[in-house]
Amino acid sequence: MAIIYTESTKEFHLYNQQISYLLKVLPNGQIGNLYYGKHIRHKEDYSYLLEGGHRPLAVYTKEKDYFFSPQYTRMEYPSIGTGDFREPAFLVTKENGSTMLSLEYQSHRIYQGKEKLNGLPALYVEAEQEAESLEITLQDTMSKFTCILKYSIYKDYPVLTRSVEFVNQGKEKVWLERVLSASVDLPDDQYEMVQLSGAWARERKVVTRPLAMGIQGITSRRGISSAEQNPFIAVKRKNADEMQGEVYGFSLVYSGNHLEQIEVDTCNMSRIQLGIHPDGFCWPLLPEEAFQSPEAVLVYSDKGLNGMSQAYHKIYRQRLVRGVWRDKERPILINNWEATGAAFTDKQILEIAKAGKELGMELFVLDDGWFGKRDNDESGLGDWYVTNYEKLPEGIEGIANKITSLGMKFGLWFEPEMVNKDSDLYREHPDWILCEPDHIPYPSRNQYILDFSRKEVTDYIYELMENVLSSAPISYVKWDMNRYMTDSYSVTRRPEEQGKIMHEYILGVYGLYERLIRRFPEILFESCSSGGARFDPGMLYYAPQAWTSDDTDAMERVKIQYGTSFVYPLSSMGAHVSEVPNQQVGRVTTMETRGNVALFGMFGFELDLGKLTESERELVKEQVAFAKAHRKLIMTGTFYRLQSPFEGNDSAWMIVSEDKKEALVGFYRMSGVPNAPWTRLRLAGLDENRKYQKDGDAAWYGGDELMHAGMVIEKDSLSNHGGDYSSGVVYLYSDLMIDRNNIKL
Ligand code: DGJ
Repeated sequence: MAIIYTESTKEFHLYNQQISYLLKVLPNGQIGNLYYGKHIRHKEDYSYLLEGGHRPLAVYTKEKDYFFSPQYTRMEYPSIGTGDFREPAFLVTKENGSTMLSLEYQSHRIYQGKEKLNGLPALYVEAEQEAESLEITLQDTMSKFTCILKYSIYKDYPVLTRSVEFVNQGKEKVWLERVLSASVDLPDDQYEMVQLSGAWARERKVVTRPLAMGIQGITSRRGISSAEQNPFIAVKRKNADEMQGEVYGFSLVYSGNHLEQIEVDTCNMSRIQLGIHPDGFCWPLLPEEAFQSPEAVLVYSDKGLNGMSQAYHKIYRQRLVRGVWRDKERPILINNWEATGAAFTDKQILEIAKAGKELGMELFVLDDGWFGKRDNDESGLGDWYVTNYEKLPEGIEGIANKITSLGMKFGLWFEPEMVNKDSDLYREHPDWILCEPDHIPYPSRNQYILDFSRKEVTDYIYELMENVLSSAPISYVKWDMNRYMTDSYSVTRRPEEQGKIMHEYILGVYGLYERLIRRFPEILFESCSSGGARFDPGMLYYAPQAWTSDDTDAMERVKIQYGTSFVYPLSSMGAHVSEVPNQQVGRVTTMETRGNVALFGMFGFELDLGKLTESERELVKEQVAFAKAHRKLIMTGTFYRLQSPFEGNDSAWMIVSEDKKEALVGFYRMSGVPNAPWTRLRLAGLDENRKYQKDGDAAWYGGDELMHAGMVIEKDSLSNHGGDYSSGVVYLYSDLMIDRNNIKL
């Protein structure tokens, strides 16, 4: 890994053994991109990659110099008004009303390691040798407005991070109206764009479409990253698939409004951009002030979509998630929400917990309904203390003690950012919600958003949460957020500061998380937002896992977990077995299939265990034991998507341990097929030279056979004999190598 600057050619080469990223100071002082992709060897002069020449209608930077025109160049952080007419990466309005700024190279700094981003989640290093960083300082010489382009390249991952810091070194105020985290110009447009789009209960479906001339992209203006569009896009070559071909991934470490877009210009260049959505964003920057953008994480893979996802999984699991739970095996939990809703009794809770304990579960999570006046969603949010002693006679301390004395851990639900009008908090502080004065705020689930841009508000919530969490043995917190943002107006701010609110809100959320995880480092946090509406890398910096979706139907979950795995590791996906008929889609699937899907995530249950039949209880016991035996593999293995649920009736995935001695394969069939064809599933990621055995089977199969000839799927080995919603999980292990010397070639 290295970052090399060549003074004579003014070129920067950031590379490791897998990727290269080449930049150049252009004739107008701005920065251009010469190349991004598979590693190419270092040389001092790659200037031939800066194509130029006269074109009618082009704007040049110097008279009679017809070589360089920004409009026809791959610009690294493009501006408006300086000759590039495509989408800019930033837009800054000066006091005189002008938006023209030419950010020109001033200096740069190369250093070992990677510095933190102030107040924002970002990838980190544990040792300086893991990454090298570059900061290029650009300045508009007239206004002294300064921009620092920040890059880090990791030694062992095909990963590059980018962010931008704006510093006002001038004498006048400016307004930042668009500050994207990264902009990358690729030299052609022969790609397909991949996005993860959906809605509540059907989050992160994989959508792929060919690039077309013009602008295409996705956005969230919902105040959070959203169920509708995940803050991620990829471009893949048309012939690339899961196993091979070139893919570029772009993921934003941010939980608020976002924009990911691609502009294909009429010279077939593709400009890929991502960052905070500019709508509603306007940040006044006074002299001496600075603004730091969120971080974008770029992955290059020449091993298809699986290659891209594996890089994201590894770096997010190892260098985004923090704290004691990063590497620790996660507890198998039972959550009461789908069994009881908010109107539970302590007797019901204890019965579920006891039954869970008998079946081997390790953590009981008390969901919504334990605090304030809360039996439904009309009241109580904001009052994070027990007031209903009929429900919980001895408060949280009492119920937590009873559950921990069963030998289980205890976890608790909060929705810290919200308030109901019917709550003590709202009655005392009606002006603490986001809303313009004298306006009636828009309701959603009968709740309103607390103004987390205000310190007194987050301080107050911190005090309440700290109080509860320190009052009882609580090992886990589910942090929920159940509405999208409207009325983004803060009564404490001046008119010109209102454009800061949506971003400051998210900074407030991050700040509160940070305080709580520092105060309670042993607590496992799981983020949640009406299921998976805030499943993003920003959240993973604070909460190692997230509730993937409120849709727990096994067949829908195959799709949701499959799509989620494009970016996020299995160690981040909460996945539970719930009751049938399923509460979201009414489908009846077998307990076996529900378990076989949830197993490929952070496993748990979400149903009334008292209603299980004797045979279901036995099966659940086995599932829990199986999940415990294999959770390390599931948390740390390399995940491969084998067959897409978006493309056919059968789908499959697998996970392989780092030493390749173990693997788990999951196979799922949507509808039973009469007189079904034989099915062979070609596995991936195994060691060709190893002998693998299936659990309970004396025969062995070579890694080469399983990957190239395939594993035969017998329909009778599937649950439900291969009928509707059937599934199978196969555990493969290997202690022996194939003795190649005794094989005749
Ligand atoms: C939405 C979550 O996704 C559910 O799991 C549950 O916690 C409810 N909120 C509680 O209100």
